Amino acid sequence: MALRKIVIRGDEILTKQCKPVTKITDRIRLLCEDMLETMREADGVGLAAPQVGVMKRLFVCRPELEKFDQEYVMINPEIIETEGEQESAEGCLSVPGYIGLLKRPERVKIKAMDLDGEIKEYDFSGFAATCIMHENDHLNGIIYPDIAEEVYTTEQYNEMMAEVVAENEEGEN
Ligand code: NI
Repeated sequence: MALRKIVIRGDEILTKQCKPVTKITDRIRLLCEDMLETMREADGVGLAAPQVGVMKRLFVCRPELEKFDQEYVMINPEIIETEGEQESAEGCLSVPGYIGLLKRPERVKIKAMDLDGEIKEYDFSGFAATCIMHENDHLNGIIYPDIAEEVYTTEQYNEMMAEVVAENEEGEN
């Protein structure tokens, strides 16, 4: 296994449609293992193949904060159903130093193949649904700043959040 280099915004690889995986080969298995390792090392919750320069429809993720050890490999994923809406604040390993605010579905149902070639369906909600939508967007050449309502630097965002906390504390006194 090896760490892969993460592609940064500005590279046109991140703007392209990815191609379906036709067969689970040793090369695909190795790619997924490397991507899992790269995601962990970068402290991320998800990583899509184009982010390591591979134009294939697959991503890895650990979207459930309460079950952080549970990792998924999603090959040729398809969003089957979405429901509701939530405000999401998200970052991306390919867009370091920024946080964007956008609207995402509250729940998502996704179908994908795993590394054993089995097609499974999953339901995610809340933060996990956001993560799934974000990673799936990568496979269609979309990064969150393309669809965000607002994008802040991490510093601006943290200042904003600190102000919100301070205001709430004042309100309580
Ligand atoms: Ni991303």
